[in-house]
Amino acid sequence: VMDIRKLYGATGMFTFDPGFMSTAACESAITYIDGDKGELLYRGYPIEQLATNCDFLETCYLILNGELPNAEQKADFDKQVTQHTMVNEQLQFFLRGFRRDAHPMAVLTGLVGALSAFYHDSLDITKASHRHISAIRLIAKLPTLVAMAYKYSIGQPFVYPKNDLSYTANFVRMMFATPCEDYVPNDVVVRALDRIFILHADHEQNASTSTVRLCGSSGTNPFAAIAAGVACLWGPAHGGANEACLQMLEELQAAGGVAVVGEFMEKVKDKNSGVRLMGFGHRVYKNYDPRAKLMQETCKEVLEALGLENDPLFKLAMELERIALSDPYFVQRKLYPNVDFYSGIVQRAIGIPTSLFTAIFALARTTGWIAQWNEMISDPDYKIGRPRQLFTGHETRDVKPVAQR
Ligand code: ACO
Repeated sequence: VMDIRKLYGATGMFTFDPGFMSTAACESAITYIDGDKGELLYRGYPIEQLATNCDFLETCYLILNGELPNAEQKADFDKQVTQHTMVNEQLQFFLRGFRRDAHPMAVLTGLVGALSAFYHDSLDITKASHRHISAIRLIAKLPTLVAMAYKYSIGQPFVYPKNDLSYTANFVRMMFATPCEDYVPNDVVVRALDRIFILHADHEQNASTSTVRLCGSSGTNPFAAIAAGVACLWGPAHGGANEACLQMLEELQAAGGVAVVGEFMEKVKDKNSGVRLMGFGHRVYKNYDPRAKLMQETCKEVLEALGLENDPLFKLAMELERIALSDPYFVQRKLYPNVDFYSGIVQRAIGIPTSLFTAIFALARTTGWIAQWNEMISDPDYKIGRPRQLFTGHETRDVKPVAQR
């Protein structure tokens, strides 16, 4: 390895930290995680209290503005969001260009990026009013886009937003209503999804949020920056884990269920197998992910309310968790269930197809992404993100004519 100081003339401390294991890339006042204690706070409020006492839009308001809204502020914010739930009619023609079997995350990456082509009036990132309206637009339109992507994939007509419903009830209706019958969203389903949204709303500098910050640091518009976040979230080590986790449970169930769990866990512990226990482990939590506890409770409630209390996948997940929490492999590495371990079972019970799980995560995380982006842009001293490298290639050499190579 060459002498980096000679190459780059670096004067300060130059660190090499692949995977950003111990590098803070920014200051932020939004979300706090204590990975050892298993604690998560949005703007100082414990996630358990928010999930129990607030709805998703109140949580969005908190994450964006720093304080919980009073009744008047809440009513005003709800109104602002519901006024922006429609998307430009032209967007459906863009959507119709996709294959029907396209992955919803491919569709969503395209649609969110395309929003910047429709909302030219809010793209001046130097103006706080433009940043605010873009944030509202993104939060309001994501459910409409996710539901449109779903309806398109199953060949059903799009269902337009109905703005006298709550944010989450409106999403449930756009997903499951058809023009053939009256549709009233089930309260238990709405509450469970609302909780999933709250638990996924922000998580400090995870891969997709860091992507949004890095992308946004070039001064690009917020729709483009959030589209980059959607693309990053798609990966199986991040947002794609909920889809991968449910697929794992389904395959395990098909192979014999609880009876073959022991054999499966041996494979997980064998590093050569390439098999991981999806929904387990986290870069920051070295204790139980507090969101996983809340999600397990929601899972029980939803399954009971829908008459699915004997759901074999839930039993399988509980058994995997029981074995893992007493197995030295997992104990020594501090591997605990993360939020995705149970969220897939809840979504499946609600009737959401597995391929849409990550898109639902993106819908919820949009709040965190846009709040983090706004925090960065509002800082008068923010800089374009530009990591350095440890160069391991050739020293200077001469190009030979092609006949001599
Ligand atoms: N199953 C089996 N072993 C695991 C698992 C797992 N799920 N996760 C980590 N390990 C092992 C690793 O093999 C490694 O073992 P070693 O020290 O003997 O080599 C050790 O635990 C540390 O793992 P790393 O991959 O180095 O930890 P890292 O912090 O880089 O990765 C990650 C965290 C990506 C979440 C990892 O735990 C994982 O792949 N989990 C499964 C996927 C998943 O559930 N992702 C969701 C993350 S949460 C979210 O995005 C909402």
